[in-house]
Amino acid sequence: MPYKTIHVEASRSYDILIGNDILSKAGEIIGPIVGNCRLGLLTDSTVDKLYGKRLTDILTASGYTIHKYVIPSGEASKCADNLLKFLNFLAEHHLTRSDAIIAFGGGVVGDMAGLAAALYLRGVKYVQIPTTLLAAVDSSVGGKTAIDIPAGKNLVGAFYQPSIVCCDTKLMDTLAPEVYRDGCAEVIKYGIILDKNLYATLKTPQFDRESVVARCVEIKRDVVQQDEFDNGLRGLLNYGHTFGHAIEKLSNFEVSHGSAVAKGMLIAARLANLCSLSNITKEVEELLTMYGFDLSCNYSADELFASILSDKKRRGDNITIVLPYSIGDCRLVTFTIEELHDKLKKILD
Ligand code: GLY
Repeated sequence: MPYKTIHVEASRSYDILIGNDILSKAGEIIGPIVGNCRLGLLTDSTVDKLYGKRLTDILTASGYTIHKYVIPSGEASKCADNLLKFLNFLAEHHLTRSDAIIAFGGGVVGDMAGLAAALYLRGVKYVQIPTTLLAAVDSSVGGKTAIDIPAGKNLVGAFYQPSIVCCDTKLMDTLAPEVYRDGCAEVIKYGIILDKNLYATLKTPQFDRESVVARCVEIKRDVVQQDEFDNGLRGLLNYGHTFGHAIEKLSNFEVSHGSAVAKGMLIAARLANLCSLSNITKEVEELLTMYGFDLSCNYSADELFASILSDKKRRGDNITIVLPYSIGDCRLVTFTIEELHDKLKKILD
C-alpha cells in the first residue's frame, strides 16, 4: 500500500490512511469498510466548489449513490439548525442503518457529520475525509463530535469514532495561507506536548507534510487509545486550548482557532515559567513567530479569567491546565480558580 496507515484501537477500531492524492482511490478504500451502500455526503461551500464534483465522480465510479448536503463555510454553520436539517435530509432520502455518512471538509464539517452519524437511526458508520491540516491532525481523529450552541462551542456532542479516515495531503495545496497556518498551531502543539524530535523538525516550516501529519496522528492515536473518553491523559491535547478558547470566545470568533491556540500556548508557557516548572517561553515564542502568528493578547487577566470560568474543563472550584515542563513533556496541573486568576494577573496585567 503506497499510503501511510495508522491503526486506532478504540471502542470502534479503524485505520487512518494518509497519502498524496489518496482521494482518487477513495471508492476502493472505503469499499471494504462501508460495503455496498448509499452515502450521505456532508461538505461546505468552499470544499464543494473546489473538490465536490471530483469526489462525487470518484465515488460514483465505484458504484455509490451520493446524496450531497452543502453547508456554508465557517464556524457559524456548526449549529443545531444545520444538524437537524442534515438529519432530516438523510431521512428524506431514506438512508438506512446500513448506509453511511461522509464528512468531506475541515473541523466544522467533520464534527457535525460525526455527530449526525452518532444520532441518525441511533448510529450509522461515517468516513472522515479531512481537507484542512487542522482537521487532518486533530478533529478527524479520535471521535470527538459536536455542534456549538449559543452558550458555547462544542457543548453538545458525543464520542463516536469514524469507521475509516482517508487523508489526502494534496488537498491542502489550495488552503488559504492563514487556514494552513491554523493547522500548524496544532502541529506545533504535538511537538511541545509529546515529541521534541517533531518540534525540531518544525523549525523548518517547509516540513514534509505527509510524514508530519502521520506523526501527529500517531501521537493523537497513542493518547486516544489510552483515554478515549477524555478522563485524564487526553487532556494533554488541550495544550494552549483553555486560554485559546477563551480568546476565541472573547473575540467573537474573529480570532481563528489556530491563532487563538498559538496565543494560548504562549500564555501556558509563561504560566509554567511563573510556576518555576520550565522556561521555554522564548523558544515557543520564536517558533510561533516564525510561522507568522500574532502572539499579542488583547484581553486583560480579568476578561480572560471570566471567559475561562465557563470552560468545559473546569471541575467545581478547580481547573486543570496543560503546562510544559520541557519541549516534548507537558503535564496536567490543577489550580484553584483563585490561584489561576492571580497568576494570570501577573502574566497579563
Ligand atoms: N481535540 C482534542 C481531542 O480530540 O481530545
